[in-house]
Amino acid sequence: MVLDGTAAPAAIHATSSRTVDDLVEEQERRFVARQPKSRALHARALSSLAGGVTSSWQITRPQPVFISRGEGSRIFDVDGNEYVDLHGGYGAGLAGHAHPAIVEAVTRQVRLGTHFAQPSEDAVVVAELLAGRFGLPLWRFTNSGTEATMDAVHLMRAVTGRDLVVKIEGCYHGHHDSVQVSVAPGEDEDLGAAGHPTGRASSTGIPDAITSLTLVATFNDLESVVRLLREHPRQVAGMIVEPIMMNAGIVHPVPGYLEGLRAVLHEHGALLCFDEVKTGLTVGPGGATRLLGVTPDVVCLAKSLGGGLVAGAVGATTELMGHVASGGYEMVGTFNGNPLSMAACRAVLEEVATDVGYERIAALRSRIDASLTASIERHGLPAHVVSVGAKGCVTFATSPVRNYRDFLRVDDRYNHLHWLAQHNAGVFLPPWGKTEQWMLSVQHDDEDAEMFIDNFERFAAEVSGALRAARSVG
Ligand SMILES: Cc1ncc(COP(=O)(O)O)c(C=O)c1O
Repeated sequence: MVLDGTAAPAAIHATSSRTVDDLVEEQERRFVARQPKSRALHARALSSLAGGVTSSWQITRPQPVFISRGEGSRIFDVDGNEYVDLHGGYGAGLAGHAHPAIVEAVTRQVRLGTHFAQPSEDAVVVAELLAGRFGLPLWRFTNSGTEATMDAVHLMRAVTGRDLVVKIEGCYHGHHDSVQVSVAPGEDEDLGAAGHPTGRASSTGIPDAITSLTLVATFNDLESVVRLLREHPRQVAGMIVEPIMMNAGIVHPVPGYLEGLRAVLHEHGALLCFDEVKTGLTVGPGGATRLLGVTPDVVCLAKSLGGGLVAGAVGATTELMGHVASGGYEMVGTFNGNPLSMAACRAVLEEVATDVGYERIAALRSRIDASLTASIERHGLPAHVVSVGAKGCVTFATSPVRNYRDFLRVDDRYNHLHWLAQHNAGVFLPPWGKTEQWMLSVQHDDEDAEMFIDNFERFAAEVSGALRAARSVG
């Protein structure tokens, strides 16, 4: 089915006796029925791609969705279904699809050669633009967020000569060893005290000896960091943190938290790194760093920086990057600063992530926030909207989530149902709805927002019916 904005979107068709689980089951059936070609491709892929996908997080329930193309704010699956893309490639989609500025820059560079492993003028321009936006003078490039946070952790260790790093429980910073600790520990694990979490390896294949070098603190709890710094005097190299936590829905820092972190870390001779791989250009032109007015020692970028191409960046103070410049820490990579990526990054900074682009996004965000909040109130859903810049989420809880322990208490069935209901009605949200956020691009428009809002209103009505039915049975 091709959605042209006039076709009636699929409704959940709940009767008052249906439970949330019944609604999920019905939407999953509908989902599978709409995508026979995706199903067939996945079955074929199982014999050549591990798990039939290219990254384990593409193994979604009820089945992975294979995409054929993207255009502006829309994507199309291999079955011909059209979607408003609010998945945004897990946060890489600020430019939308086939943005003319990216197409032009990349096409030009392809003709001029795509790889030299030597610096280019575009790399200098991109570094200058990032320095202006983030207030950190010196930059290097990587090929992913994982590489950026890995280099940042190495650099903090190299500069301080210390081994320990602090991270936040429930934060994801990529899949290298030092940060694969307490990423999404389950309630059934021994999590330790709320303000003093026990570090848990988040992946197999990582030796305990490495996991034990990463200490775990609680978001929005300065005291939990101070405690670790006191317990390990002069041993902590630094702390890596998302300034706005974005792998647990969206969790804003409480006022003074980030300033406090910088002060206590510096007091103990340790460094502060902001992982802005997700927040980077999506919350505003200079990321959370500029939005919240706290400049760390190191910042990591990736995702939307590349306009859909592979790119990451690390920015830092003169003191820290002096260590790189002098060879004290060798920040290397065959494809670092690749000319194709640099051409795309330059186009993003000069022609996509502009004041006009951010104004357009802010107007759509306000409209979505207000409309979803009105639906939530009209139907008495135990939920609220959290958003910032191009990103937003519905948290299915009445009180704000301040940290990972609060987040763990949120029932994830509602987000899954929301994902399915939007998907079946032509809006592609990121899977893993409880952890992820929707993402607007500079190419989304009012019609896109309207489809999302209308679908949500229908979803809210159905869920409130199911909740009423459950209450009357109970
Ligand atoms: C906050 C954060 N940091 C780092 C990463 C890793 O980035 P990449 O997937 O490009 O390696 C991610 C990926 O989702 C992320 O959300």
